[in-house]
Amino acid sequence: MAKKPKQIFSCTQCGYQSPKWLGKCPDCNQWNTLVEEQAVVAGGHSRALAAPGKAQKFSEINSREEDRLRCGIGELDRVLGGGVVPGSLILIGGDPGIGKSTLLLQAVNRLSRNGKALYVTAEESARQVKLRGERLGVSADNLYLLAETSLEQVRARIKELQPDFLVIDSIQTIFTDSVESAPGSVSQVRECTGQLMMLAKGEGLPTFLVGHVTKDGAIAGPRVLEHMVDTVLYFEGDPGHPYRILRAVKNRFGSTNEIGVFEMSEAGLREVSNPSELFLAERPEQSAGSAVVPALEGSRPILVELQALVSGSSFGTPQRTAIGIDHKRVALLVAILEKKVELMLAGQDIFLNVAGGVRLDEPAVDLAAIAALASSHLNRVIDAQTVIFGEVGLTGEVRAVSQPELRVTEAARLGFTRCILPKGSLKNIKPPKGMKLVGIRHASELMELIFN
Ligand code: TYD
Ligand code: MG
Repeated sequence: MAKKPKQIFSCTQCGYQSPKWLGKCPDCNQWNTLVEEQAVVAGGHSRALAAPGKAQKFSEINSREEDRLRCGIGELDRVLGGGVVPGSLILIGGDPGIGKSTLLLQAVNRLSRNGKALYVTAEESARQVKLRGERLGVSADNLYLLAETSLEQVRARIKELQPDFLVIDSIQTIFTDSVESAPGSVSQVRECTGQLMMLAKGEGLPTFLVGHVTKDGAIAGPRVLEHMVDTVLYFEGDPGHPYRILRAVKNRFGSTNEIGVFEMSEAGLREVSNPSELFLAERPEQSAGSAVVPALEGSRPILVELQALVSGSSFGTPQRTAIGIDHKRVALLVAILEKKVELMLAGQDIFLNVAGGVRLDEPAVDLAAIAALASSHLNRVIDAQTVIFGEVGLTGEVRAVSQPELRVTEAARLGFTRCILPKGSLKNIKPPKGMKLVGIRHASELMELIFN
């Protein structure tokens, strides 16, 4: 008697699998994300990673840094950790329409100067990609387009063409015959990625996968694949703004702190190698509630503007909204302002926004957030030539943060003349020319310093 295929339920958000249906995923706590699928049959990607070989001596394994291939797009190379590592599998996730296909087309255009590139488009026709490419100025001779959704066909073409770079756009629209479930389901997406990983590692073929971030429904999101690939990059940004930020959330070959900043123009994505200028370009200089913080994104200091709005609430429960910064952190800073700086913020609606669509996760922005909130509440303008950074503890003490010198230097480069920073960070830094450093120990000292 033929064995009944085994049924399994998979979460489309995180890939959790359960033998029975559940309303709420116990792993990622999302509701209604489990869908029925057929379990992957044996076989699949259980083959060995490379040809069976001998154990190698650690010291004899080749690991030269120059093996990395640069895409020629500086911002992308930086996020990748200095270029593409041969045989690596790179996942680029992001909302539909954010610019993933555009970025990869521009990247393979440059990369194809070093060898053959194959761009598999499973969403658009080759003609559509060509039209877009013409607008982007793609002129590579060595770039091949393949409009195909079957992984078996793609593998056959790869065998014929022997490309040096591969792009799969997108992993959710490609499918393999070895799994019965529909394209985009968790098992399909995992199996296809598994097979592509074998290919990438076995042939040393660097592979980019595009993964759309999905809100819900039956399509598996890129999070399902994060543990399988070498590098996970997310492309973020507000579709209403031209700026896009590329962020590494996992990188086996580099740091995950780096970000790349791009601007979407009619001729595709343009690198923004000087993001501080961009983020401060529209700063209102004579308005209360605006503070500038030299934040650190990976190894690079970026000056960003924090904007606060504090206004009397007309409802019993005041609103607390934070954009680009953790809202729990904001609640904490508000409490510190009340208790330790003695500003009465109860009954006030509080909004805090990081201008330019950046996300700030480091505690070094605490002091500037406090300054912006106080400035808006007191309706007093912060001195336009001053930047502020430092971590604030629960007793209102200002704590030292990493890399103060980098932050101060970047602020000086952009013409700021004064920096308020933790006293503990003052030692060992030489103030750049024209920059005055003011060290403080407690958040309450801030009030006398920032307003003119
Ligand atoms: P796309 O790369 O197709 O997004 P994704 O692959 O992430 O779904 O980008 C689509 C958006 O980018 C679309 O809204 C139009 C815009 N765009 C430009 O503004 N300029 C350009 O040169 C290109 C190619 C796209
Ligand atoms: Mg696309």
